[in-house]
Amino acid sequence: MITPVRLWENDFARDPDRYYDALRAQGPVGWAELAPEVTAYVVTGRRAALDLLHDEVTFSHDPRPWESTVADDSPVLGMMRWRPNSLFADGAAHVRYRTALIDTFALVEPHDLRERVHRAVHLLVSRFGPRGRADLVGEFARPLMALVFNGLFGLPDSQSDRLDGALGKMMEGGAQAAEGEAEFGGYVLELIAAKAERPGDDLPSRLLEHPARLTPEEVTWQVFLTLGAGHEPTANLVSNVLSRVLGNPDYYSTLTSGARPVMDAVVEVLHHETPLANYGIHYARHPLSFHGTWVEEAVPVVISYGALAHRARTGGPKDASHLSWSAGPHACPVKQHTLLIATEAVERLTQWLPDLAPTKPREQLTWRPGPFHRSLTALPVRFSPRSPDQPGEDA
Ligand code: HEM
Repeated sequence: MITPVRLWENDFARDPDRYYDALRAQGPVGWAELAPEVTAYVVTGRRAALDLLHDEVTFSHDPRPWESTVADDSPVLGMMRWRPNSLFADGAAHVRYRTALIDTFALVEPHDLRERVHRAVHLLVSRFGPRGRADLVGEFARPLMALVFNGLFGLPDSQSDRLDGALGKMMEGGAQAAEGEAEFGGYVLELIAAKAERPGDDLPSRLLEHPARLTPEEVTWQVFLTLGAGHEPTANLVSNVLSRVLGNPDYYSTLTSGARPVMDAVVEVLHHETPLANYGIHYARHPLSFHGTWVEEAVPVVISYGALAHRARTGGPKDASHLSWSAGPHACPVKQHTLLIATEAVERLTQWLPDLAPTKPREQLTWRPGPFHRSLTALPVRFSPRSPDQPGEDA
């Protein structure tokens, strides 16, 4: 019996590559634990990942047969339990939810999104700018996403901390996961009840009006998914980009001088340090041999976007594109919006604070535990103090 690789250990957060090497040593489909005693197959081979992601006949996204095999208080349930949303649906139900989400997001104009990001950066820099020091995770990347998403979803800025706190606990998949899931659920329920009563120019109101005629309950679950899927990975994408470029002053100066576009740094992170490290969770509809491994039904089969990215770094085919947005019918439907948010956030911040410098070497930064994400706990920096309202500046 192969020993499962324990992706829930703190050391996984410290040194994921060692764990990905151990998984890869087992072949394209390895065996891991997502939490103590919660086992899963983990796909680290590119061919196997693509085969799985495109095969809706053999594999399902519906976790319910698995759920009946795990403890009610398992910390991974927040991220894995079934809900009537796009991520956990197959076939026609999936197309209905996904189409409603895509159509709704298509109504968000890039210039509007750009402006929202600029406004949020301005607000955050006005808070920490005069101090000359900040934590770019806790004071920038995370609150930035909460501000941008709250705006898109029709909530005031004052609610951002509540959203940020609840989602953080759920995504870590640890002792506070159930509490975070409950807080986040309450948050979304209140939001949809308010929009059903008084629609506005926001995503939930448009989802409620979509011709797919989602019920208010279904809209609640799509919003639950979208806020969760959007906030955490995008905040981590931004902080991973910032930590990479700030850790390399030469690289940073090519970005601030405009010699290289920020998009290069974003794409580099998607290749080497993708924020959604292990997800894309499928379940075999019947037992089968898959790329050399016997796969039982009702056991999660996880795609390791992190291991696939790591492979690109350590000598995979040079032309291999990363799979950080996934592939096939469930691939991230909001990729363009995300790229715009991340690039604008980094660009705007570095325009305001061009001499950002990390106060710790990159090797000393710490990462949040959890099998699903690649997420810094903090990114402390210093810079010349400034206020965004300083006269004569037009950043
Ligand atoms: C604006 C921010 C984002 C939103 C609103 C969003 C939304 C979504 C939604 C609704 C799905 C489910 C699609 C379906 O089931 O058909 C999804 C899937 C996915 N998203 Fe995103 N996403 C965002 C940002 C990101 C980021 C930053 C990443 C990582 C780089 C990412 C990676 C993925 C992946 C890998 C999937 C496939 C599902 C899976 O692995 O289980 N997304 N996203």
